[in-house]
Amino acid sequence: MFALGFLLGGKLVSVVVALLVATIAFWKWKYQYWKRRNVPYLEPRIPFGNMEEVIRGKKFAGIRLKEIYNEMKSKGWRHGGIYTFTKPSYVILDLDYVRNIMTKDFKYFMDRDVYVNENDPLQAHLVNVSGARWRNLRAKLTPTFTSGKMKGMFQVMAESQKDLQTRMYEEYKKNRPINIKEILACFTTNIIGSCAFGLECKALEDDNSEFRLFGRKMFAMTRLQSFKRLFAVTFPKLAKFVNLSFKRQEIVDFIMNLVQDTIEYREKNNYTRNDFMQLLINLKNDKDVDGHDAQSLSIDEVASQAIVFFAAGFETSSTLMTFALYELAKNEDIQKKLRQEIDSVLDKHNGQMTYDSIQDMKYLNQVIDETLRLHPPGSLTDRKCIEDYKIPDQDVVIEKGTTVLIPIMGIHYDEEYYPEPEKFDPERFSDENKKTRHNFAFMPFGEGPRNCIGMRFGLLQSKMGLVSLLKNYKFTVNKKTVEPLQYQPRHFVLAAQGEIWLNAEKV
Ligand code: HEM
Repeated sequence: MFALGFLLGGKLVSVVVALLVATIAFWKWKYQYWKRRNVPYLEPRIPFGNMEEVIRGKKFAGIRLKEIYNEMKSKGWRHGGIYTFTKPSYVILDLDYVRNIMTKDFKYFMDRDVYVNENDPLQAHLVNVSGARWRNLRAKLTPTFTSGKMKGMFQVMAESQKDLQTRMYEEYKKNRPINIKEILACFTTNIIGSCAFGLECKALEDDNSEFRLFGRKMFAMTRLQSFKRLFAVTFPKLAKFVNLSFKRQEIVDFIMNLVQDTIEYREKNNYTRNDFMQLLINLKNDKDVDGHDAQSLSIDEVASQAIVFFAAGFETSSTLMTFALYELAKNEDIQKKLRQEIDSVLDKHNGQMTYDSIQDMKYLNQVIDETLRLHPPGSLTDRKCIEDYKIPDQDVVIEKGTTVLIPIMGIHYDEEYYPEPEKFDPERFSDENKKTRHNFAFMPFGEGPRNCIGMRFGLLQSKMGLVSLLKNYKFTVNKKTVEPLQYQPRHFVLAAQGEIWLNAEKV
């Protein structure tokens, strides 16, 4: 009996050892991929490849990619290969290659590397869809974001700006350190809630308003959720096989009810409003955004766009304003110079903050660009190769299906383009200085036909928020802020660890 057990046990050990050896051999063979394709690569480690800290939830993906960029750049590479588990990704450094992939040869790189479970509702949105479906949807939605449409929404935004003033005054009176991101997230929640859903969210009046709670829920990623996402893009076939779903029922219910109620109310009462929802309703009813005949959107597609506008709209812009105020709080002279510009431009416009007065603030633009360089909310983006593609002037073919990573933050911190890259210096974005750089050395909104569709909207609401605060308050950094800044490892967009705390003084 004992001998049999020993024998069986011995067999089991042999099987386990054989499996282990086979797995390691398989991993090692996978790690030859870039060598076989003639692309220089950073040495991966079994089993995580080059992204161990990201997989373990210890580092933000954009920051890890910035490190990878620096390592490759120090070796003089123009491009390079990495691995996430066994999945190879192609990293581009050379800005001409970036330009080719994002614009000139875009037809080879039209898609994003996303995993979509066809059965999950609210997935058919612009960020996720691919191929002809994306092209059609993008063409339909693009007229929603023209400067004319933005001008039309300005009044809706301006209402929220008054609530921001009221809330800021209350915070100021408390004479306590201010968690500025929270206030700004409430401000952008109000704006996007109003513009995307036609609702008064009252987030500035109540930190725990329904919409603000919903926004927090959407952006807080648990360890399990972030692992599931990484697993799905790394092993899409396996994810499909096990029918991996990201559906969060409470989010689906909240949005579907909201969209259905809004549409029903507007259609029953013949009510129209100058907002995104109206433009989406027009598309649902076979009209393009300007009311001409078009191919219609389903209710699920309307809801999917609304949720992505909401998600992309409030967090990115509040992040931008938060980091801008932090940098201004650290750089008193720059803050003073910007306030002088705000005062003098507003004087010229009879003290009114209008769409045109905001466009006149040149230095504000520079401050925003420099903030987006140092703290780009979308610190990386990707494309998926959809047809074999030969890299010009190299004996390298990128295979169909390969993920291409664009290290936005790595490029933004490259000394070759930005000497003393850690320094906050808006002069880098003066007209003369901008001309001296490659166009693709700055791309906080991505680039090419698949760049950020909401750029104008995001910039407008961020400028409005900053002008509104800076004309009335002077900011300094409170010691509660953890410095030097660290970024949260598991968050959809760049966010400071421990939040940014400011002191405010009336000007
Ligand atoms: C400061 C604010 C914002 C920043 C920094 C930002 C950044 C980005 C970046 C980096 C991308 C990827 C672009 C690429 O892959 O080339 C993107 C895509 C996108 N953004 Fe934004 N964004 C902002 C605001 C907004 C707003 C306000 C909206 C909507 C109301 C929005 C909607 C989108 C959508 C739908 C896409 C996907 C576009 C497509 O695939 O066709 N974003 N954004």
